[in-house]
Amino acid sequence: MAATRNSGFDDPFYQPADKFFPANNNIGLTFDDITLATLYSEILPRDTQLDTTLADGLHLNIPVISSDMDTVTESRMAIAMALNGGLGLIHYNLPEREQLSQVSRVKNHVHGLIQEPIQVSPDQFIGDVLAMIEQKKFGFSTFPVVDEKGKLVGLLPGHVVKPRYAKRKISEALQPRAQVHTINQKELSKDPIARADKFFTEHLGIHKLLVVDDKDHLRGLITLNDVEHITQERAAQFKPARDSHFRLVCGAAVSATRNAFGELDKKRILEHVGGLVERGVDVVAVSTAHGHTKGVGDMVRVLRDAFPKLPLIAGNVTSAAGVEFLADCGADAIKVGQGPGSICTTRIVAGVGIPQMTALYVCARAAAKKKVTILADGGITKSGDIVKALTLSEAVICGGIFAGCNEAPGDVVEISGKLYKQYRGMGSFAAMKAGSAARYGHDKNPAQKVAPEGVEALKEACGSVDRVLAQLIGGIQSGMGYLGAANLAQLRGKARYIRVSPAGMREAAPHDVVELKTGN
Ligand code: IMP
Repeated sequence: MAATRNSGFDDPFYQPADKFFPANNNIGLTFDDITLATLYSEILPRDTQLDTTLADGLHLNIPVISSDMDTVTESRMAIAMALNGGLGLIHYNLPEREQLSQVSRVKNHVHGLIQEPIQVSPDQFIGDVLAMIEQKKFGFSTFPVVDEKGKLVGLLPGHVVKPRYAKRKISEALQPRAQVHTINQKELSKDPIARADKFFTEHLGIHKLLVVDDKDHLRGLITLNDVEHITQERAAQFKPARDSHFRLVCGAAVSATRNAFGELDKKRILEHVGGLVERGVDVVAVSTAHGHTKGVGDMVRVLRDAFPKLPLIAGNVTSAAGVEFLADCGADAIKVGQGPGSICTTRIVAGVGIPQMTALYVCARAAAKKKVTILADGGITKSGDIVKALTLSEAVICGGIFAGCNEAPGDVVEISGKLYKQYRGMGSFAAMKAGSAARYGHDKNPAQKVAPEGVEALKEACGSVDRVLAQLIGGIQSGMGYLGAANLAQLRGKARYIRVSPAGMREAAPHDVVELKTGN
């Protein structure tokens, strides 16, 4: 029989994590310092599964999270990430109310049955509706019309919501109740999408179905577009990441807000996180540069006590003691990374931080003991880095890779014929002035002496998140195929490492050729 198992000759060279990292305990290693050895495989890359559980109630279909940075994740990015099966963490450099509405936008994005559709009243003017669409940035213009008791009186069709009709009352323009297609909520079976799909097939040209109760109160809205999206996604390999109500998952970062006396402002923190929870947030991240601190521990404890079931991410740390501390305070997933970020200058400014693969190994051991998960945060520049990170963690957090995408906040700028988007560290001077100073233990007041730990930079514009993620996922699946890993647990179990010399690193990239097209 052909040899399908490892040969003893390999073992001294290609070592599993528990041998390799302790054997290299006198040096900090990062992604490019190591490479993974191939193993006998019966797994085709396209058949690999990438789903990951980060906490009870937080399951993703791909192990990729977009960073809580003000040039990376707002609602557009979070929607794109969740539609691809991942997660976006909405940053906190914005007024609390604005962060709440960003979360609402993600949670209300295409989820089949919209349980609380935006409604208008017959006494409003079309001009009011136009102003609301502009202010809330709605991407739709058809609204159910209800009276003051919530009873359905008609539907305001999108084709009359135009500036030329601004002075007309909705009551003049609406399609009356008798002509509106509705379904009683009792008729919606366990699978409202299948029921609505049948309805739309039977009713040629109808795009909206309103859900009412026995008293004709509006109870929901289903659109043909949403139903078609969802029917298509049921056939996709990596399905969108959704909650139990079929809404896209969304995370939000929060800062350890302090009052005038320098104490944690518990009231304000709980009010804000309560608002996030009300809007359906799936996970809250306590994001700081130094997570192994009393302040972060207190914050995590406050949130854990107030919201026992809410998945909590906390960080950042690079030591086993840091992981154990945050786990004991109640965190479910711990962010690992101090200094690897592409915009980060922490190691230069503070002389502190640990190369990422060593940090991940040390933290992963403590995480296994404490039964928490690890998120590899920062320093990822290519899909191979993600494969390496996933041998020791449950998911990766990326900033720079997504900052040039269409869905990242900010405008595209043209410089010498090339297109770029702004990307800045949350510890850069500009970002701290905009609100993130607490993350770095500084005051927002620019008059204070503050040492920035991040730079302001540009990323080349790189198209849609779909496109970038397709490349990354393809790379992760290739890596898993080489290791014979059908899923991420097998990848973690099977990985064997070896160090790479500087010459080996040069060998790893294209060399001795004139490159016509880059790999990506
Ligand atoms: P990237 O994916 O390599 O660009 O790194 C993104 C990560 O860097 C974020 O998720 C944060 O953990 C971290 N980070 C963000 N801003 C700063 C900063 O200003 N200084 C240091 N690290 C930062």
